[in-house]
Amino acid sequence: MTIKVTYSGDYQQLISPEIEAKLNVIHNNMQNKTGLGSDYLGWYDWASRMNETFLQEIQQTADRIRQNSDVLVVIGIGGSYLGSKAVIEALTPHFHTKPEIEVIYAGHHVSGEYLAKLMKYLNDKEVTVNVISKSGTTTEPALAFRFLQKYMEDRYGEEAVSRIIVTTDAEKGSLLSLSKEKGYQRFEVPADIGGRYSVLTAVGLLPIAVAGHSIRDLVKGASTAEKTFKKFDMNSNVAIQYAVIRNHLYNQNYSIEILATFEPKLAYLQEWWKQLFGESEGKEQKGLFPASVSFSTDLHSLGQYIQDGQRILFESFLIIEETATDLSVFTAENNGDELNYLSGLTLNEFNLACYEATSSAHLSGEVPQIGLTIKELNEENIGFLLYFYMVSCAYSAYLLEINPFDQPGVEDYKTNIFKILQKPGFI
Ligand code: PA5
Repeated sequence: MTIKVTYSGDYQQLISPEIEAKLNVIHNNMQNKTGLGSDYLGWYDWASRMNETFLQEIQQTADRIRQNSDVLVVIGIGGSYLGSKAVIEALTPHFHTKPEIEVIYAGHHVSGEYLAKLMKYLNDKEVTVNVISKSGTTTEPALAFRFLQKYMEDRYGEEAVSRIIVTTDAEKGSLLSLSKEKGYQRFEVPADIGGRYSVLTAVGLLPIAVAGHSIRDLVKGASTAEKTFKKFDMNSNVAIQYAVIRNHLYNQNYSIEILATFEPKLAYLQEWWKQLFGESEGKEQKGLFPASVSFSTDLHSLGQYIQDGQRILFESFLIIEETATDLSVFTAENNGDELNYLSGLTLNEFNLACYEATSSAHLSGEVPQIGLTIKELNEENIGFLLYFYMVSCAYSAYLLEINPFDQPGVEDYKTNIFKILQKPGFI
């Protein structure tokens, strides 16, 4: 597995002795787990540290849920839900008449209507709940859990205990105390792995395994990436290349990076990417603003701005070379729609042509471009891709001399909620 990185400018010209030396220090710090925020570098070698017992426990729990439930409700926000949703959406077919088990999310917003309708929807289905919060104190998921816990107890009585699974910190937080008191099965979010870097821990793996995807292949892809990106080489380490190019463009006064795809299944991978880069880099009045578009849809809306609006943005295309299922354009007898010139072309080939057309149009509109290409969407490749983005994000933030692993802005808002709603201890 590999990711091809291309750039509309000349990458070789970006490799100065200064940036190479700076990245070398960053790389060594990450390897040795030193430097800014290094207490949260646990994800860096997590894929290879993961032991068989842990994977087995996740898989056995997922198998049990798949046997006794129609729905898994995952409660979580930010890094506690985006990773699993991104992977599940990328791997699940667009339409399925009867999914074996549905994974539904809650607690990622506070819509009373959504929660009320969700509980109604669950009434004629067998349900398991996985509540995920590393801190165990985030208000939105805690609120959703208060409702869903009562729902489960009212519906299942004593059996509710075996249908609620908690994923949280091993040492602290109200969710931990509550789960100990009730005797819920518990998975740990490692202390040295922050929310947006936690997709390969129980946070992401349990929901992904419940959805029926191979967590072993996902982890295999991530371990391959871990080994690949251990090598410091400005020319072959594509995670370094991606970080160098985006850093160069940032220094050229571009302020927005748009992640563009031609595959709607990647919409949540784009959301995960936005959280990863936005929350890791956007500090101290620095950082690129991460945005996303889905083509062709957005070619007929935001495409206009990209082509012709303020010159403050660049694009990163995430291209999937081969799709699992495809259609070929057939020859129509009367050619009324005048599309026979496309006969024999697959729709994926159309998208690749569209990529070429978009890319050259936007280039003529002076939009710099990075191309990231992977062969196909499967567990192994996605594991590799997730790790690629995490490691490249860390390089990027360190290049800006920013701690990639904290989120003081988000914490400000969390504390303000406590104050406004007069949580004891915050008045
Ligand atoms: O990346 C992060 O750390 C955050 O986005 C968290 O994932 C998010 O705020 C949810 O936090 P918690 O899992 O503690 O409820």
